[in-house]
Amino acid sequence: MDWLPVVKARRAESAGSHVEIRGWVRTRRDSKGGFSFLEINDGSCLGNLQVVVPASLSNYTTDVLRLSVGASAIVRGELKASPGKGQSTELAATEVVVLGLADPATYPLQKKGASLEFLRTIAHLRPRTNTFGAVSRVRNQVCASIHAFFQERGFLYVNTPIITASDCEGAGQMFRVTTLDPDKPPRLPNGTIDHSQDFFGKQTHLTVSGQLEGETLACALGRIYTFGPTFRAENSNTTRHLSEFWMVEPEVAFFQLEDNMDLAEAFLRRLATDALNNCQEDIDFFVERVDPHVRTTLTALAEQPFARISYTEAVAKLEASGEAFEHPVKWGIDLQSEHERWLTEKHVGRPAIVHDYPKEIKAFYMRLSDDGRTVRAMDVLAPRVGEIIGGSQREERLPVLEERMRASGLEPEAYSWYLDLRRYGTVPHAGFGLGLERAVQMITGMTNIRDVIPFPRAPRLADF
Ligand code: 4AD
Ligand code: MG
Repeated sequence: MDWLPVVKARRAESAGSHVEIRGWVRTRRDSKGGFSFLEINDGSCLGNLQVVVPASLSNYTTDVLRLSVGASAIVRGELKASPGKGQSTELAATEVVVLGLADPATYPLQKKGASLEFLRTIAHLRPRTNTFGAVSRVRNQVCASIHAFFQERGFLYVNTPIITASDCEGAGQMFRVTTLDPDKPPRLPNGTIDHSQDFFGKQTHLTVSGQLEGETLACALGRIYTFGPTFRAENSNTTRHLSEFWMVEPEVAFFQLEDNMDLAEAFLRRLATDALNNCQEDIDFFVERVDPHVRTTLTALAEQPFARISYTEAVAKLEASGEAFEHPVKWGIDLQSEHERWLTEKHVGRPAIVHDYPKEIKAFYMRLSDDGRTVRAMDVLAPRVGEIIGGSQREERLPVLEERMRASGLEPEAYSWYLDLRRYGTVPHAGFGLGLERAVQMITGMTNIRDVIPFPRAPRLADF
């Protein structure tokens, strides 16, 4: 017999059926009238299924009365329409099979709400909490929406390497991949490490972005997207940075910056709409427990056009704002989180796309504008979360790109394969990257990025 997920068992139309449920006990309450009430959760939805267990069951005293929070059980019986509030059905048990007990003296997740900080120390058990269950279901929905959105638009899902010899962002914040003996690495006569003897015969790293390889596929297949793990060895101990995160990167041949902005906007709107439609119970939970404005923010995201503002205009507005920013504003600075927040939360009150940034603060591959000072870059900023998407139109002109690489301290020779795209049949193209975890933060209202990925990696944090 197949067992029924709790999400289905809770529906009114399931009343009357004989079913089997498998899950973990959230609470047990014994009544004087010869019954125990169990709340069973199996992760298929936020809500629990109430199970009414009569004391007449043969294993009532030996098994049922030993069930406590965290214990696992199989329950069989009949679903009945429930008189109780907040539930349409309850299960009248005819059989309870205990699979595993959980000693209440040591099980760390007792009924009372534990802090998010504490839950991070038990990341292997926190999937059993309401918060983490809701986050996991929303994260799953976001992943499904990502694929649906691009597949419906004819994008090919492609995979780019995780181990790479390129530095896409040119920022050098990469984790080295090597099999050399750290105590006795082979050295060249000048004392430097001889990487020709390393596993790949050269220096390699974990990727910081699949973009450069993604461009090669877009410049043949037209519209592609990658979706994979991404690694950054930046020493950022913030609520928005991880050392390992998941990034979605669409890349489109023949796209210019305006097309790219339209795509990014339609994409985020879709993520919000799908979450609102398909994760209602979990969103209710976030509204109640995490951020009362989550649903309003999501609805606005789904319905209102984003503001679009050039970097130059944004700096002018920030300068005129009269705010005492910790980092003073002037043309040429990289916008800090306090500036991004002012722009989205105070100035426009919704997501904003800031475009055409100074070339000095952006990566070498972004297309240089005729003014010679700015590049065709765009960042999508979301209220509370800040930068959620970074992208650009790419430099498709060979000499300009080579010059930009040299200016950024990169050797064009090392990227000859990338330059070949400009040598042979070059086309304008554009793309962007969305950090999955920042998208999940935006949708759930969770303030710390470490609470929207099962096993966060951050400076000095690689447990489990
Ligand atoms: O702005 P970034 O660095 O852009 C790129 O890597 C481009 N190559 C993408 C492209 O055009 N194909 O990163 C893109 C997004 C950011 O906007 C942010 O959402 C996320 O990736 N991100 C991080 N998320 C969590 N932790 C970090 N340390 C992140 N760094 C970037
Ligand atoms: Mg960026």
